[in-house]
Amino acid sequence: MNPYVFEPFKIKAVERIPLTTREERERYIREARFNLFNLPSQAVTIDLLTDSGTGAMSDEQWAALHRGDEAYAGARSYYRLAQVQRELFGFPYFTPVHQGRAAERVLFEILLQPGDVVATNQPFDTTYANIVAQGATPLELVIEAAYDTQRDHPFKGNVDLDRLEEALQGHPRPKFVLITITNNTGGGQPVSLENLRGVRALCDRYQVPLYLDAARHAENAYFIHEREAPHMSIRDIVRETFSLADGMLMSAKKDGLVNIGGLLAVRDARLFARIQEVMVRTEGFPTYGGLAGRDMEALAQGLLEAVELSYLRYRVGQVRYLAQRLREAGVPILEPPGGHAVYLDMLRFLPDWPREHLPGQAFTVALYREGGIRAVELGTVAFGKHDPETGTWEFPRLELVRLAIPRRVYTQAHLDYVAEAIVQLYHHPEKIRPLRLVKEPPALRHFLAEYEEI
Ligand code: F0G
Repeated sequence: MNPYVFEPFKIKAVERIPLTTREERERYIREARFNLFNLPSQAVTIDLLTDSGTGAMSDEQWAALHRGDEAYAGARSYYRLAQVQRELFGFPYFTPVHQGRAAERVLFEILLQPGDVVATNQPFDTTYANIVAQGATPLELVIEAAYDTQRDHPFKGNVDLDRLEEALQGHPRPKFVLITITNNTGGGQPVSLENLRGVRALCDRYQVPLYLDAARHAENAYFIHEREAPHMSIRDIVRETFSLADGMLMSAKKDGLVNIGGLLAVRDARLFARIQEVMVRTEGFPTYGGLAGRDMEALAQGLLEAVELSYLRYRVGQVRYLAQRLREAGVPILEPPGGHAVYLDMLRFLPDWPREHLPGQAFTVALYREGGIRAVELGTVAFGKHDPETGTWEFPRLELVRLAIPRRVYTQAHLDYVAEAIVQLYHHPEKIRPLRLVKEPPALRHFLAEYEEI
């Protein structure tokens, strides 16, 4: 049994969590038309929908809020953030943005034309949608092991370098390479330094820039520290990781340990000049980028806390603890667990289910009914292709349900409660009821879809 790594903090403020009855949950889930994004948070007891913007700030961050300078241009808080950015990541140019997808839109609008191709390990869904919105196509070049949920591999987020080289020799040549650390779509799996160095060498050979989607860069660094480079400190790993890239996009709502914010950083002065133009037109002057001064102050502090080894050991330890409780009960999970979430493997959990019955989504509904727990499907609904006219599906290779753990929010007892509810459903799969879509938007389906029970 993994020991639970105890919280390297104590609790100064608490927030009541909603407790509901089974009857109330039945009403709420029907009113939400079986889409958990439609639930009011007051209906949710343990919220594992996302680790994005849902973390708890430290006393130092709350204190930093009071130091926020709200000047429109050149705020003191911007310079504080700039100092931390340079110290940790080392980019000469950066702008804050209000969240990760703003960085995606601004950068892709500048770099991409219709018909372009982008090489990735695996893009997150907003990243995918923002590439496609420019008329371009993302290529998924993650190693084959990523698709085998039972295969133990230390760096399942790695790029297949042979396939990357093939893509770089192809026509059209990818406009840039974008590597997501850790790979959220593939289970929060890390990318090794060795792999990043290999990607860099190919980018140099074919004269293509390399960008990092660095939302979970600190968790990625922790895995590198554990599995690849124990002699390097987290900060040294972070520093080397970013030194390999021409730029980075960061949703700071994850490893920035803030509730809102992001960064867009590059090395090229001419590119940055164009970023500033788009920023002024659409997001805000580049010394605030759509954030309040206090947000930048809290982010500067959060970025420093996220690279502390004691924090990361606890953070990744919590994910591992939940994984271990499920594994012990035989519940099939994506192995090894990633940095921010445990992913259930629904093709093994419900092996006899037709995928048209949306097993992942159906499971999230059942888990809500069982314990007021909110998880998210990352399977057929999120990534499958559906023709509403003919009803035919093209299914993604994996059918996952993600239990994302907010940072510094829940305790061991909360995780035990979650594990028990899931084990219940594992032993009583008849509680999980098939669903069909009754409303689906053409893109980013899982956020806005509606369902009925069959
Ligand atoms: N890149 C990755 C790897 C992400 O996981 C996310 C968001 C984004 C970019 C977009 O950032 O939300 O700040 O605009 N992921 C959240 C999630 C929503 O639940 O995994 P954002």
